Amino acid sequence: MLILGIETSCDETSVALVADGTRVRSLVISSSSMLFSQTGGVIPEDAARRQVECMQPALQQCMANASCTPADIDAIAVTSGPGLLGSLLVGTTTARVLSALWNKPLIGVHHTLGHLSAPWLTPPESQDLPSPTFPALALSASGGHTELWLRHSHTANTLLGATRDDAAGEAFDKGAALLGLPYPGGPAIARAAESGDALAFAFPDPLGNKDTLDFSFSGLKTALRYTLRDHGIAAPIPEAVCADLAASYQEAICRHLVHKISRALQQYPTPTVHIVGGVSANTRLRTLLTETLPATDICIPVRIAYCTDNAAMIAAAGYFLHAERGDSAFAPFVTEASSRLPQQAIAP
Ligand code: KG4
Ligand code: ZN
Repeated sequence: MLILGIETSCDETSVALVADGTRVRSLVISSSSMLFSQTGGVIPEDAARRQVECMQPALQQCMANASCTPADIDAIAVTSGPGLLGSLLVGTTTARVLSALWNKPLIGVHHTLGHLSAPWLTPPESQDLPSPTFPALALSASGGHTELWLRHSHTANTLLGATRDDAAGEAFDKGAALLGLPYPGGPAIARAAESGDALAFAFPDPLGNKDTLDFSFSGLKTALRYTLRDHGIAAPIPEAVCADLAASYQEAICRHLVHKISRALQQYPTPTVHIVGGVSANTRLRTLLTETLPATDICIPVRIAYCTDNAAMIAAAGYFLHAERGDSAFAPFVTEASSRLPQQAIAP
């Protein structure tokens, strides 16, 4: 089953063709994050305007890369939420038009279910199919959400914990802004941290002793602000000091994530943990996970492009929704965009 995926929930315009939920035939991602490198975050109106411009070329490129014609496509999957409403509308409107034009069924996909499906993706040239298993714990950590799920199947999921304030990626983005580093903050902090000392500055352990699987990141961002103030560090921050701050701050975020996963594993001992969402691209997080949980199979999307927002994961999720729910996965022709799509769409 070949699915055309469309993802426009934030600042990316992405189109993909994925066969049977796993084999990526083509993936095009055009990001407008460069527009926002100095603004500290995405300006929704600007992101949506850019997506209107990028959508048609991205679609053409995606079809050409796979030498695909509309007749080859079985269904269209599109992110229906949550996300920036103007951006979502670019994707859902495109999907609805193509669905009517090509007479293809539509599947609306919750953005998080897309991320959760990313470990199944395999690049066009790869011979080996990754085979993530159920039951599994899954951490989905991005700029918009941080959630810990217990997964029994693609459509049977239990939410174990979520952030009470900022998302993990948001902590990276806001921390980067404080350090004078560009948006998106995750890759910028990771780069700066490479030459830094993670023990140079102390950060609190959020919700340290609390008996909960929830997360909290806003205190870390405030601690970074106070660290700058208390040490009299002002812009422009010297490179070596910035490296130490970035390394220490990154370490605190990663340790908080790993701490909660370890705690969850004690309560729900699954052999596998899936790590997805933009923050799963973080190298220090990956190292810390394998060091802390040597007996656990840590399953991460095989490409960085599958960790951050992309349409292949949406096509995969659309496929799995259909595989487990049959034709009832098809939206009745219209797929509405919703900026605040409830989690019931993942765990009905
Ligand atoms: O999943 P994603 O692409 O978009 C959302 O759904 O939000 O995640 C984007 C987030 C941003 O906050 C970005 O700073 C973070 O993921 N991110 C990273 C890394 N790459 C992207 N965080 C830490 N380390 C990275 N290497
Ligand atoms: Zn995302």
